[in-house]
Amino acid sequence: MKIAVAGTGYVGLVTGTCLAERGHCVTCVDVDENKIKMMESGKSPIYEDGLEELMQKNHAAGRLSYTTDYQAAYCDADAIFIGVGTPELPDGSADLHFVMGVARQIAESVQKDCLVVVKSTVPIGTNDEVEKLLKECVNGRVNIEVASNPEFLAQGTAVRDTLNASRCVIGTESKNAESVMRAIYEPFGIPIVSVNRRSAEMIKYASNDFLALKISYMNDLANLCELVGADVKAVAQGMSYDERIGRRFLNPGIGYGGSCFPKDTKALRSLAADLGYELKTVSAAIEVNQMQQIRLFTKAEEMGIELEGKKIAILGLAFKAGTDDLREAASLKNVPLLLEKGANLVAYDPVAQDNFIRRFPEGQQGSGSIHYVHSAKEALQDADLCFVYTEWPEFVSLTPSDFIKTMKSPVVFDGRDIYQPEEMKNAGITYIGIGR
Ligand code: UGA
Repeated sequence: MKIAVAGTGYVGLVTGTCLAERGHCVTCVDVDENKIKMMESGKSPIYEDGLEELMQKNHAAGRLSYTTDYQAAYCDADAIFIGVGTPELPDGSADLHFVMGVARQIAESVQKDCLVVVKSTVPIGTNDEVEKLLKECVNGRVNIEVASNPEFLAQGTAVRDTLNASRCVIGTESKNAESVMRAIYEPFGIPIVSVNRRSAEMIKYASNDFLALKISYMNDLANLCELVGADVKAVAQGMSYDERIGRRFLNPGIGYGGSCFPKDTKALRSLAADLGYELKTVSAAIEVNQMQQIRLFTKAEEMGIELEGKKIAILGLAFKAGTDDLREAASLKNVPLLLEKGANLVAYDPVAQDNFIRRFPEGQQGSGSIHYVHSAKEALQDADLCFVYTEWPEFVSLTPSDFIKTMKSPVVFDGRDIYQPEEMKNAGITYIGIGR
């Protein structure tokens, strides 16, 4: 099938590449010329395991191309996927500016009947709005329908998650749209859940917000575990054997970040509020997360630790391991707090460092300073304190003696609970984790 994909971010580019890998003829469209040139030369503009190889393979096979010329890409496509961003507006609602902009471009370009597939995470009812706009603009010239096809890939495992998705949710309002969607995903051999458009839109928010709630619940419990003398990791393990609870997303830490959970929790809460309904569970998840993201900093303050003039190793800047993405990363909240206190930070992240430097350039920052190095051990050298914000394997594999040998005074704040408290304490390290 001839498919165009609007947007070459995590969702659009991975979707386009995987559709090509499954045999479709795909054109990825983006407004950014530099990105297009980069992709044409075989480079991925985002860090995502296995993506670049798959882009190169499918580009060479003639199934995957890139362009800024949206008219050429949309005019004769059988299906057009919209995978552009829906960032958060100041009131927490989703900004649909990019989605609607692409819809207008599609309407002015299409010359044959086609299906527009909304992959971006959009508030319930948006697909109806997109269809209305498209139909008004094409004015009967061609037949355009809209299907909702929410995305469930996680950054860092995006290619794997797409090719072997747990399910493909398709939301349609006609037999024709449903059969086109089934034909697109037939080569993936994954379970297809076919529902109406509003339910499909809701499934996306319901899934993300449930996972965010699960994490905030564990973080809330972790804070209570500290007060009652329980170990939240052990508690999570004990819970995980119950299949109704499951093993995954029970890891407490410094709160959830990324481009999805923070945004999608606020968007659903805002959508509910607009309808006069208070979504209390999701509000609680948001509130817990806001406190949790600076939990380590609060603990340092509560312990009366003097931060001014201290050399502090920062291990990890990305919002989670496996990505270079900094959106809503706990590091973005904590680094300014530490700098404000006059700390001298030595930061290291194996992948997200360059993106971070653009926000916090090397050198003096107010009364503190930030300096970047190229390994965890370099960051730890002569440090007074260490804060771990991301669970990169390189950090997980550090042993107590790595901290003892390199740091000036081994005080470790472990925001991901990746070290064993007993081992750390027995080695003479002042160890502060989450919930234990
Ligand atoms: C999330 C969902 O997992 C995807 O299914 C969804 O498609 C995606 O959002 C999206 O809407 O596009 P992602 O944000 O890439 O994916 O990352 P996750 O692996 O879900 O992690 C989100 C945050 O939760 C990270 O900061 C992570 O460190 C944190 N987390 C995750 C925890 O604190 N504890 C856990 O047990 C799991």
